Amino acid sequence: MRERRLRSDAIPRHVAIIMDGNGRWAEKRGLSRNEGHHAGLESVRDVVRSAHELGVKILTLYAFSQENWNRPKGEVDALMTLLDRYIDSEVDEIDRNGVQVRVMGRMEDVPRAIRDKLEAAVERTRENEEMILVFALSYGGRQEIVDAARQLVAAAEAGKVHADAVDEKTFASCLYQPDLPDPDLLIRTGAEWRVSNFLLWQIAYSEIHVTDRMWPDFRKPDLVEAIADYQQRERRFGLTSAQVRTGDLEDA
Ligand code: FPP
Repeated sequence: MRERRLRSDAIPRHVAIIMDGNGRWAEKRGLSRNEGHHAGLESVRDVVRSAHELGVKILTLYAFSQENWNRPKGEVDALMTLLDRYIDSEVDEIDRNGVQVRVMGRMEDVPRAIRDKLEAAVERTRENEEMILVFALSYGGRQEIVDAARQLVAAAEAGKVHADAVDEKTFASCLYQPDLPDPDLLIRTGAEWRVSNFLLWQIAYSEIHVTDRMWPDFRKPDLVEAIADYQQRERRFGLTSAQVRTGDLEDA
């Protein structure tokens, strides 16, 4: 098995994925874009299972961006229906496997019925501790930062926060999922080298893996490949190699 290539002591704790390429996958096969999204659902199922099996503790999936609301209505509706279907068909297994579901984004824009269903899944799985599965939905990184700034300004207006007291930690505490650590590994499928407004604050020091694989073809071996690539990286967080190796911040 290709998993043997992985060092079990260096599995990224938090993996975030930009699931791109459904449309191109479909167009190449003479199918509709919506059929591409439908095929992509199978990859979501596989990757959630696989991440859990590999020992990933947090998996964040970019399911629908703020900008995706501007796609043709038929495509938006199809994506919402798929999400609905995913929750219906997977929530039992997700819960059985001890996976906790969360959502992040401007949920007020999501159709009521789907929002209710997602909230029920979040509630049902709240105590689960095996893995956290976050759906970034109606999500934008800039919007998240704006929402955090709004919270801080409101707190300042109420006299609860002073400008001097605002640092990275207080700012991060106003983001959508403040208790989650930043992603260690960001994967983007579909051969595009873009961040596309995803987790702009949180990916400051994430390792990035871009693959040519279109999302509907992405499966466990591809996730293993991405993690193997991650395990080759030296994470320096702005330090020098020598400092990282020795742990001595004085070392040149
Ligand atoms: C990008 O492909 C993908 C999306 C906009 C949505 C991702 C949705 C799924 C994988 C389907 C189901 C998801 C869940 C969470 C149930 P694209 O359409 O931008 O592809 P393209 O770049 O080839 O056009």
